[in-house]
Amino acid sequence: MSKRISIHGQWSSRLMFILAATGAAIGLGNIWKFPYMAGENGGGAFVLVYLLCLALIGIPIMMAEVLIGRRGRQSPVNTLHSLSVEAGASGSWRLVGWAGMLAGLVILSYYSVIAGWTLAYLMRMLSGTFVRVTAEGSGSIFAQLVTDPERLLAWHTIFMVMTIKVVSRGVTNGLEKAAKILMPMLFFLVLVLVAYAARNGDFAQAFNYLFYTDFSKLTPAGVLTAMGHAFFTLSLGMGAMLVYGSYLPSGVSIAQTSILVGLLDTLVALLGGLATFSIVFANGLAAGEGPGLIFQTLPIAFGQMPGGMFFGALFFLLLVFAAWTSAIVLIEPLVAWLIENREMERIRAAIWTGMVAWLLGIVTILSFSHWSFSFHFGGVLKRHGLFDVLDIVTSSIILPLGGLCMALFAGWVMARDSVVDELGGLAGVGFKLWYFIIRFITPAAMLLIFLRAIGVL
Ligand code: PHE
Repeated sequence: MSKRISIHGQWSSRLMFILAATGAAIGLGNIWKFPYMAGENGGGAFVLVYLLCLALIGIPIMMAEVLIGRRGRQSPVNTLHSLSVEAGASGSWRLVGWAGMLAGLVILSYYSVIAGWTLAYLMRMLSGTFVRVTAEGSGSIFAQLVTDPERLLAWHTIFMVMTIKVVSRGVTNGLEKAAKILMPMLFFLVLVLVAYAARNGDFAQAFNYLFYTDFSKLTPAGVLTAMGHAFFTLSLGMGAMLVYGSYLPSGVSIAQTSILVGLLDTLVALLGGLATFSIVFANGLAAGEGPGLIFQTLPIAFGQMPGGMFFGALFFLLLVFAAWTSAIVLIEPLVAWLIENREMERIRAAIWTGMVAWLLGIVTILSFSHWSFSFHFGGVLKRHGLFDVLDIVTSSIILPLGGLCMALFAGWVMARDSVVDELGGLAGVGFKLWYFIIRFITPAAMLLIFLRAIGVL
């Protein structure tokens, strides 16, 4: 059949897709979430499982999602519908797209609140709040911020408006260009932090902590968390990569670009983790601090280094940008669907979707003060009740399940010929290996992790 074209446009080049996909992947997940998840789950063993999940589950699924997207060239719901009908399978596969759109809304609701913290920290850096700050001082500055719902609401609102603005312009306009300058800069800043941490922090202990594997510290729920984070960090399982794939010009190699995006994402997370834990250990702080980890530790480093105000401000600015390039893709699947099925204008679709996510964000804001409660998840004390629930349900359950469905869809539902056609650049052994992984290894590994987490195995 003739190739479809997307009504939403397409990336202007292979490089632009790489930048946009890297921008979507690298975000708060790498620098904010990965260190605190590793810290809560005891370090090394968690990191190893996370890396294995990235290689055996994440990157193969990224290829599957992108190829499904490019084949269908529509929003996830409509793509899954058309492709399943075309393959003679049930149209209900589109429910995977629906679950993804919902997960995207929920994730954006808390993602925007945390991005708001980052904006707040940018201002604090600029005003010199952290010059020579002590560990206690930094802890109390953080506590003050997150227990002030009105302030959080203001920052959350600003970030959501930023997100809506970009989505309403269409992804190819402006953001591609911003990503081109900002992603390399973020990378550079992470290196500055790592260099600082190597000189002044406890680098050796951080290295040991992240790479020395002690499996006794890892619970089955911790394994599920590691797998969930592999999905979260690569933006998989909710249609984000699918929708970005649907704007991908034909002829660009899906395998090469996915592997590159996966590697860059992993590198930034590991470097961010190394820097964070060097500072944590050098200052006698606790690794299992939870979501406040980087906000309590990194300012100590910036407060001490020469030019710290400048570098600190730049770091949080880039983190805002990294969050921004990720946030937009969280609602892009829903926005694309509203445009396709409800014939809404892009700007209206973006505003409506953003408003729903904004409202839902209030739940997260209050989780850090008035509505806070604690519970245990796989031996880890979670102190921010509803925020943690939203995070666990989306990252550890919906994203992996969505990803599993994408793997099954590409591996078993789509005709092998169409798959070969889309993965054109991947010849011979490479293709066979990927196809085997996506059909057998990925589903089996995921099933195992799920069954262990719920105590069946
Ligand atoms: N990958 C992003 C991050 O690491 C988060 C994200 C998840 C973005 C899912 C889009 C879709 O911050």
